[in-house]
Amino acid sequence: MQKLARTYGPVTGFYLGPTQPMISVVGTEAVREALQNNDLNGRPSGAILLSRTFGERLGLIFVDGDVWQEQRRFTLRHLRDLGFGKTSIEDQMMDEIADLISEISTTAKSNPDHVVDFKSIFSVSVINILWAIIGGKRFQRDDPKFKKLLDNIDQFLGSGNVAQANLPIPAFLVRLFPSLPGRLGIKTQLFVPIQKFIEETIDEHLTTRSKGDVARDYMDVYLDEMEEQLKTNGSTSTFSKKQLISSIQDLFAAGSHTSSSGIGFVVLYMIHYPTIQQKIRDELDDICGDSLPSLAHRSRLSYTEAVLMEVTRTASVVPLAVPHRAMKNTQLQGFTIPKGSILAISLHSAFKDPTAWGDPENFRPERHLDQNGKVIKNDAFTPFGLGKRICLGEPLARNTVFLFVASLVKTFEFQSVPNEALPTLEPNSGILSSPKPFKAVVIPRVLNQRKEN
Ligand code: HEM
Repeated sequence: MQKLARTYGPVTGFYLGPTQPMISVVGTEAVREALQNNDLNGRPSGAILLSRTFGERLGLIFVDGDVWQEQRRFTLRHLRDLGFGKTSIEDQMMDEIADLISEISTTAKSNPDHVVDFKSIFSVSVINILWAIIGGKRFQRDDPKFKKLLDNIDQFLGSGNVAQANLPIPAFLVRLFPSLPGRLGIKTQLFVPIQKFIEETIDEHLTTRSKGDVARDYMDVYLDEMEEQLKTNGSTSTFSKKQLISSIQDLFAAGSHTSSSGIGFVVLYMIHYPTIQQKIRDELDDICGDSLPSLAHRSRLSYTEAVLMEVTRTASVVPLAVPHRAMKNTQLQGFTIPKGSILAISLHSAFKDPTAWGDPENFRPERHLDQNGKVIKNDAFTPFGLGKRICLGEPLARNTVFLFVASLVKTFEFQSVPNEALPTLEPNSGILSSPKPFKAVVIPRVLNQRKEN
């Protein structure tokens, strides 16, 4: 995309196959304009995407028009009531963090060199937080069913790429050649066990839910609404069991590996930049004293915030957002975008835009602070997107990454493994970008102090 932009400018159109216009959008200005143009708020469809959701356009991510508006509004409102972005979920997060800290401590102590393998270690905690809001249950880290589930999500998100997933392949071709998505590297069959697991939990809710009681979680509020809508709107309602399964599947897919990769990248960068790690720790000690950081401390932890922002900018967890689709003919940077075009909007290009950052290639948290040490926001910094399609989980994601990172850095010192090369910063790239598995030496700080004494 960057190459296209160097030759043709920030907005480049081309055809994928004989009829599908694709538009590549690069650079801060074009990216911001595209994200804020409501005519570009559609999403692509196609047999591969439909095969994730029972052959119908369902869920939250790959729907548009009235279904998207109704389902997004409902989900946003109730997830907010159930704790998204609120301190009410903070206790739950702190329980997960305590659990994670204890696991990391045990692993570090059980090993004479204190080496800990960070592969998938954060996903369990992040999914538990998400699942508490959606389905009200907590998993044990070593639950084999849960491990299998994580594995499936992992493999799906690591498979294929955005362009392939959006190829406008007709449904009959996929029926004739079921292996077609697989040949393109897209493993849609991995969704079957995830859907089965979600459906079993919905059925459990249907039997244990008492009408009139306060809703326990997202599933309860959704089932209430489904019944209401069936009474008032009958078969025209957009609320259904399949839609609920698809929405939860989308929340899982969008919310689990993004936040856990966000946390993983920060730990990885801290191994590469020990001085920055120590500066965060000094700030945390100064502001939080002996206690673990909380959301109430956040506004005073500007340096920590700036480091999180800089890792987010450099690592680019969702490099191309989710593809958008033109709902009607419209304009972008003076060009006509024909109805039906699919747009790949490079958030990543804005994070690396020299006009916006000066020295984008350098890792420099201070760029997010003003002369008084207060956090400033650059227009090119849109890791969650912008406009009506902005990430639905932004408040939860930001709180999760902050609390985990701050608590971990307060509790442990992360170092590279002696006599081994530093773990690579080069990400695994698929639809999402995630850190390659890495190991680190983890020194619990109490142990550290004992050593010094
Ligand atoms: C560090 C963590 C995260 C990042 C960087 C991130 C980023 C993004 C981005 C860039 C988009 C696409 C915006 C667009 O297409 O214009 C998106 C969409 C979305 N995100 Fe996130 N996200 C994160 C965490 C989460 C979490 C925790 C959830 C929910 C549990 C979530 C739910 C969603 C959903 C449902 C959409 C689709 C919204 C729509 O199409 O209307 N995300 N996210």
